[in-house]
Order: sequence, then structure tokens, then C-alpha cells
Amino acid sequence: MIKINNLTKIYHTPTREIVALEKVDLEVEKGEIFGIIGLSGAGKSTLVRCINMLEKPTEGSVIIDGTDITGLTSRELLSARQKIGMIFQHFNLLSSRTVFGNVAFPLEIAGLTGGKIKDRVGELLDLVGLSDRAGSHPSQLSGGQKQRVGIARALANRPKILLSDEATSALDPQTTGSILELLKDINRRFNLTILMIAHDMNVIKRACDRVAVIDRSRIVEVGKVIDIFSNPQTAVSRNFIGSVIDKEVPEHLLQCSNRQRPGTITRLIGVSFIGDSTGKPLISSMIKKFDVDANILYGNIDHIKDIPFGHLVLELTGEPGQVAGALDYLCGFGLEVEAIDSV
Ligand SMILES: Nc1ncnc2c1ncn2[C@@H]1O[C@H](COP(=O)(O)OP(=O)(O)O)[C@@H](O)[C@H]1O
Ligand SMILES: [Mg+2]
Repeated sequence: MIKINNLTKIYHTPTREIVALEKVDLEVEKGEIFGIIGLSGAGKSTLVRCINMLEKPTEGSVIIDGTDITGLTSRELLSARQKIGMIFQHFNLLSSRTVFGNVAFPLEIAGLTGGKIKDRVGELLDLVGLSDRAGSHPSQLSGGQKQRVGIARALANRPKILLSDEATSALDPQTTGSILELLKDINRRFNLTILMIAHDMNVIKRACDRVAVIDRSRIVEVGKVIDIFSNPQTAVSRNFIGSVIDKEVPEHLLQCSNRQRPGTITRLIGVSFIGDSTGKPLISSMIKKFDVDANILYGNIDHIKDIPFGHLVLELTGEPGQVAGALDYLCGFGLEVEAIDSV
């Protein structure tokens, strides 16, 4: 759906050159919610602005649905842009127009009139749950409602792609959740491809199928969100994940180890569960099968998009052969098992 090849963007300022993107390659499939995460200044907004050609890339190509949009004339670009909707952190609504007028705006530009506009705006406001606010002005709406208007406006011309540049960054966590649910619903209903920029890993975790991590103008890691959460390859990704999933075991828990029986050993292990295995009683079946004690020191279950993802810290005590057998047993279910420390 979107294919970016060797994209470089250099801004020329009077005093210096700023390399905002460097040799970026990226492919986004039709119908997926693809996240881009990076710190402020990493180049995220520049990337979305190159995708809808609000910025002209210095080098490289942006291919959308088979067409290289870097080669289009300005007229061709106008119609190509109608197939790309965009939502923003600060909503960018027209304050002098009502909710109806804001959503109607892109339809007027596309040449629709009268009843056609009225019908389409009605559908869109219904979709985002604002049918009763058509006559309000943006200043009379909450942040979440403003973003719903932004979403309705972005979808007006039935785009194939929705670009979201930090669309939830100005919202509180609860409103962020409801906007992300709306975007997921729209993605499923219309098979709309969504490219979602964020600096908060919670947003990625909640909504995205795949993610690219961008660091200082380069993409350093791309993969399924679940894979990056369970096995990050770069320090930048580990930092983002650390801000969401706390795998650090509090020091005082590490101190309270079992009193050992003679001939037994104790191992402290971290176990990560993904998907189906979170629902299975693997720990209790392990205890029945092997002569080990399992003391749960810490545990949590979270969701990555709609997939459950859990982490447990266990203290296993038993004869060395039994402990080793129990660990193999857990690994055999495809769980990620790591030794935290030998006590
Ligand atoms: N129009 C511009 N002119 C000059 N420099 C810019 C411009 N837009 C962005 N930059 C610079 O490019 C880099 C990437 O910016 P941006 O894409 O906005 O990052 P992000 O969205 O990840 O915070 C930053 O160093 C920023 O200062
Ligand atoms: Mg930005």
C-alpha cells in the first residue's frame, strides 16, 4: 500500500543543513495499523509529510498503491492527496465553522454540493458519534470530540490511507483510549490502512499491528508489535518498552528467597507469555509434573492490541534435575524463559 525507498529529507536553514530522514525504507501493507515511534525530533512528522508530499523528499521514492507520488504534477498530486486523510495532534479545525462545516470542507473542495454533502456529513458524524453536535463550534467541544471531528473530516473523501501524527498526544489517557478504539473500529470496518505516529509506546501497544522505531532520522527496528515487545533488538526499543511494561523486579522481592532444603537449588526466572498460553494453567501443571516449589514473586498480564501478554517472576526450588526439567517443560510451550539471577 505504501512503499518508501531510500527516503532522505534534508532541510536547508540559513545556518545549517538538518538531516531529518536518512535512507528510510519502509513498507506498509493494505489494511494494517502501522505505528512509527520515536523521540521528539527523530523525524516522524517529516516522514508523514513526505508521504502526502507536503514536504518534497530530497532523495528516494514514496510509492502509494503502485504510483510514485514524488513524480506527480501538482494537479495529479491534488487528486492523489484526496486518497490520503490526515489527523493532527492539535486537530487543526476551522474555528469559524461548525462541526458540520468542518466535515463538509473537504467535500466542497472535491466538488460535491447540497444534498450529497449533507448525506455524507451525516454518515460521518454518525460514524464518529457526534450526530448531535453538528451545529456546535470547535470551541464548544472537548479535545476528544474535536479529534472525532478531525477523524470525520479526514475520512470524508473515502481515503485509502489515514495518516495520524500524534493524534492522541494532547488527550488524557481515557480519551486517548476511546479515540484509539474508534480508529481500530474504522480500520476493521473499512479495511483502511492507518499509519500512526506516536512517541508513547502505550498508543502503539494498544492499536498497532506492526511498528517501526525511528531514532535520529533512521529506522532502527521494524516488526510486529508483539515481537518487538517480547524481543526488542535495540536499546531505543528497550527504552520505549520499559516505559510501558515494567519487568524490573523490586529489590526487596529478590531478597526474600526460600529457605532451602538440603540438596535443593533455587532459581529465579522470568517467564513471558504471549497469546494463548496466558490462558493456560502451565505453572500449576508444571508443579504437578515436577517436584518443585514455585513461589510467584511478581506478575502482570497486559494486552498488545488484542493479544494478551504476561510476565511472571518465579522462584523455583527443588533438586537440580527437577528444576531443569521444569524449566524445559515451560520452554516447550514456547514461553520465553530467562534466568534473572541464581540465588
Ligand atoms: N521545516 C523545517 N525546517 C527546518 N528543520 C525542520 C523542519 N521541520 C523539521 N525540522 C527538523 O527536522 C528534525 C525532525 O523533525 P520532525 O520530523 O518534526 O520530528 P518529530 O516529528 O519526530 O518530532 C528536527 O531536528 C527538526 O528540528
Ligand atoms: Mg512530530
